Amino acid sequence: MRADFLNVELQQIKDAGLYRQLRRVDGDQGPTLMLDGREVINFSSNNYLGLANHPALAAAAKAAIDRYGSGSGASRLISGNMTLHEELEAKLAQFKNSEAALVFNSGFQANIGLLATLAGEGDAILSDSLNHASIIDGCRLSKAKTLVYAHCDLNELEACLKRAATARRRLIVTETIFSMDGDEAPLREIVELAEKYDAMVMVDEAHGTGVFGANGAGVVAKLGLASRVLIQMGTLGKALGGFGAYVAGSRALCDLLINRCRSFIFTTSLPPAVMAMALAAIDIVQSEPQRRDALRHNCQKLKHGLSQLGYELGQSESPILPLIVGDAGRCMALSAALLIRGVFAQGIRPPTVPVGTSRLRITSMATHSEAQIECALAAFRDVRGEE
Ligand SMILES: Cc1ncc(COP(=O)(O)O)c(C=O)c1O
Repeated sequence: MRADFLNVELQQIKDAGLYRQLRRVDGDQGPTLMLDGREVINFSSNNYLGLANHPALAAAAKAAIDRYGSGSGASRLISGNMTLHEELEAKLAQFKNSEAALVFNSGFQANIGLLATLAGEGDAILSDSLNHASIIDGCRLSKAKTLVYAHCDLNELEACLKRAATARRRLIVTETIFSMDGDEAPLREIVELAEKYDAMVMVDEAHGTGVFGANGAGVVAKLGLASRVLIQMGTLGKALGGFGAYVAGSRALCDLLINRCRSFIFTTSLPPAVMAMALAAIDIVQSEPQRRDALRHNCQKLKHGLSQLGYELGQSESPILPLIVGDAGRCMALSAALLIRGVFAQGIRPPTVPVGTSRLRITSMATHSEAQIECALAAFRDVRGEE
C-alpha cells in the first residue's frame, strides 16, 4: 500500500502552522535545562516542586531496583502485582483521605479506562469544555452520551444535569486545576449540583496534587470534599516528579476497576523503581510544606512582574500562567523570541487548546531562583509588543 498520505497530511499540518517537532533535553529536569544543546531557564515543566531531579527519589529508585529488580514482568492480575504497588496504594489512600487507591500506568490510561468503566450506553457524562484530551477520549470510548458544558459554567452544568435526568447514571467530570489555563474549577458548587441531581463526581487532580491543600493532597483536600467526590484521579508524573497515575476512592470503586477497567487490566504494571519514587515523593510532599511556599512565592513574583509589564494572564492562582496570544504563528514566534533570550516558555496551539487561543503556558517551579525569575522578566520586557 502506498503511504503518500503521510506526507500529504504532514504538509496540511505545516500549512496550518501547527507542525510540531520534538526538542531534546540533555541532563536532568531542573529549573534550567540543556535544551537542544543550549542552557535555558525552564518555564515549561510540570515539575512544580522540583522533585523530578530530587536525590531522594533517585536513591529510592536505585534501592528498589537492587531489591526487586528492574521490571514487573506482567500485568497486575497475572504476576505483576508487587509489594510496592500495594504499599503505594495504601499510602495514596492515606494521602487522599480515601478508603482505597489504585495505581495506573499513566494519567491518560487512567482517564480513558475510568470513564469507559463507569459510564456506558444509557448514561450521561457531563464534561467541562476545557477538560484534557484523555478525558475527551474517555468520554468517546465510554459510549455514554456526553454533554459538554461551557468552561466552569455552573448554569450550563445545571441545564445539562436537567437534560440528563432520564439517563441511567450521571457522571460529572472536571479537572480541578485546568492544565492549560491554570484556573480552578468551582468544585464545591459542582459537588452541590451533583448531590441535587443525583450525579457522581470525578475529578482530575493532575495539576492540583502536590500543589494545593495543607499537606499537598490537592484541591479536594483543600476544600474538605474527599467524602463527597466519588473518584479522585491524579498523576505521579507532575508535581510528584515521577511517572504513573492513581485513582483514589472507595474499595468497591477500586475492585470494580480491577475487574473491568481495560487500561488497568491489559497492560504490564509499573516497575518497582517507579513505585519507590512515588513513595519517596509523597513523603517529601507531606513533610516539606516549604516547597509549596517557595512555589507560591515564585508564582506570585512572576505573575506580578508580568502584569507590571502589561501582560494579561487570566484567572490563574496556580503555577500555570496562560499568556494568550491567539494566533498560532505569532504564539510560536513569541516563544522563539524568548528562547533566543534563554527563556523556555512553550507555545501551545490547537488542538491542545481551542482555535484562536494559542498561548504561552508559563509554569513556575519551587526551585526557580530569584535571579532566574528576574532574568525571565527581563526577556519578557524585551519581547513586549511582539505578542
Ligand atoms: C489534566 C491532565 N490529565 C491527565 C493527564 C495525563 O497524565 P499522564 O501524563 O500521566 O498520562 C495530563 C497530562 O498530560 C493532564 O494535564
